[in-house]
Amino acid sequence: MLGKTFAALATAALLLGAPAAQADENASLVVNGQTMVTKLAAPKGHPLPEILSGWLFRTDETQALQTDDFDNPSFIFVEAGLAAWKKVDGAAGKSCESCHKDIQTSMKGVRAGMPKWNEKAKEVWSLENYINDCRENRMQAKPWAWAKAEMDAMVAAVGLQSRGMPVKVDVSGPAAEWFNRGKDMYYTRYGQLELSCANCHEDHYGDMIRADHLSQGQTNGFPTYRLKNTKLNSIHDRFKGCIRDTRAETFATGSAEFRALELYVAWRGQGLSVETPSVRQ
Ligand code: HEC
Ligand code: HEC
Repeated sequence: MLGKTFAALATAALLLGAPAAQADENASLVVNGQTMVTKLAAPKGHPLPEILSGWLFRTDETQALQTDDFDNPSFIFVEAGLAAWKKVDGAAGKSCESCHKDIQTSMKGVRAGMPKWNEKAKEVWSLENYINDCRENRMQAKPWAWAKAEMDAMVAAVGLQSRGMPVKVDVSGPAAEWFNRGKDMYYTRYGQLELSCANCHEDHYGDMIRADHLSQGQTNGFPTYRLKNTKLNSIHDRFKGCIRDTRAETFATGSAEFRALELYVAWRGQGLSVETPSVRQ
């Protein structure tokens, strides 16, 4: 009972006073002549009435940065990822390109289906796991640290090859258990504030929280360049930040917990275009 009251107070405090701004739902995101799906009706059984890209909730200035690759600050990092694609590294004397050839062809669509079940590992793997598997076991190179510059740059370079394609993750078969675990996490109240992901991103999207316009917390634009820290940010980094904001202990980037959550959140964003690399505040 006490917990409930506190949560209500905390929610009220966080959502204090600010006017509820509306998502500019008529804005359309066109990049390189390609129109992104930023809004669609949710299918039956989905917890939301409509699925909205986080891009819709940003200011005009932030939105504009994502419409032109020359203005999009992510591209410095994408370029680094593309250079790493061609760079020989590790004892096997290979680069990504040695095996996968042209990134535009071999990596097209890969990001749209991530994370996904890996039969060999018997786990759901994020794109980062696939990249490190190749580095360690196919290149004999050192794995890249999760959520650090080299990894985020490669995730962005690979992710770009799916830009404009609909997010579509497979949550059937052995992935179903991970999906359910992720869903449980999404509705679990964390931290002193006792807030779940859903309390903010399902119950309050469209509202202001402090100076921030709350979105549905979709992952279709990741890795995302944030004006706040002027670098790419991975999906798991964002999860960590959001959980910390509830003043809770969080999970590690790359953990099974966060991969399960990533699968579930990707499912919530099904049908949105992959916007990688997006720009956010
Ligand atoms: C020695 C050859 C080789 C090298 C070098 C290599 N890969 Fe791979 N990679 C593979 C093979 C084989 C697979 C598995 C393909 C499959 O089973 O569908 C794979 C799978 C992948 C996947 C998953 C694709 C999917 O559709 O699930 C990604 C992403 C990937 N590699 C990225 C990279 C990156 C980035 C590099 C460089 C850092 C790299 N690979 C280096 C051979 C290689
Ligand atoms: C106290 C409210 C709050 C909670 C609880 C919260 N978030 Fe967030 N989240 C935010 C705010 C504020 C932002 C930045 C503005 C926005 O995009 O909504 C954000 C952004 C995000 C984004 C980036 C969206 C984009 O388009 O770039 C993702 C993904 C996300 N949250 C996922 C989660 C997940 C998963 C959880 C639960 C573990 C969670 N959040 C819990 C407040 C919250």
